[in-house]
Amino acid sequence: MPVPAGSSVVVGVGAEEGLGASLAQRFARDGFRVIVAGRTAARLKSLSAAIKEAGGRAEPKVTDATREKEVIALFDKAAERGDLDLVVYNVGNNAAAPLLDLDAADFETLWRQNALGGFLVGREAVRRMLPRGRGTILFTGATASLRARPPFTGFASAKAALRAVAQGLAREFGPHGIHIAHVVIDGVIDGAYAREKFPGFVHAKGEDGMIDPGAIADTFLALHKQPRSAWTHELDLRPFKETF
Ligand SMILES: NC(=O)c1ccc[n+]([C@@H]2O[C@H](COP(=O)([O-])OP(=O)(O)OC[C@H]3O[C@@H](n4cnc5c(N)ncnc54)[C@H](OP(=O)(O)O)[C@@H]3O)[C@@H](O)[C@H]2O)c1
Repeated sequence: MPVPAGSSVVVGVGAEEGLGASLAQRFARDGFRVIVAGRTAARLKSLSAAIKEAGGRAEPKVTDATREKEVIALFDKAAERGDLDLVVYNVGNNAAAPLLDLDAADFETLWRQNALGGFLVGREAVRRMLPRGRGTILFTGATASLRARPPFTGFASAKAALRAVAQGLAREFGPHGIHIAHVVIDGVIDGAYAREKFPGFVHAKGEDGMIDPGAIADTFLALHKQPRSAWTHELDLRPFKETF
């Protein structure tokens, strides 16, 4: 049976040329009402306006995913909009830091952005989905979710913890009808983040060397649409020419 489009929340929406924005646009094109959540009101407003202009339904909600009260308020708002079907936790960009330069506060910030935020969003989403016994919660992973390599040891420890949150949620709530999946993005996303932070690296990747965020969004939506007799918990995505 096809699942009708309903209400969705994307947590971790920043630049318009980024994965969070692509996910929101893709879900809206498929008929979902989307709440876009991130920390910068102006970016969220402009993305929501662009989605509405294209005929979709979107609204912004400024939320810091590491603050429990704000995450609860976000999901209270989502619940007011109707049944919650699809949630993505997309927060957490990498931060290069050689281990001897990484102080405790920075290490903890990485953990908060990934493990703590993922836990809070996962918990609040499950609380809203359990009564209906359905819904999908997707977590954005990275190469570092599976492998710690310097100078990204702090980031990798945080992404691995987020993966553990996703696994635990899946094992506890999958049998209650909630589909929980973790997507390992094993490559560079062709978006504002990489272009601003690592322009040389992006250039070196060459044509088709990066992952199109729209293609990632298609995969997230396909995960949501899987029939429950054949659910994926984890998959990886990389450009065809990426070595691994
Ligand atoms: N970029 C890559 O090449 C790459 C590669 C592999 C995996 N990934 C994964 O892809 C995801 C990000 O995709 P992206 O790089 O295209 O970036 P993006 O989706 O454009 O941006 C994510 C946005 O999350 C927001 N954010 C950060 N901390 C937050 C918090 N505490 N609460 C709420 N929102 C917060 C930031 O916007 P504000 O500052 O405005 O809040 C940030 O711009 C991450 O999970 C990352 O690990 C990225």
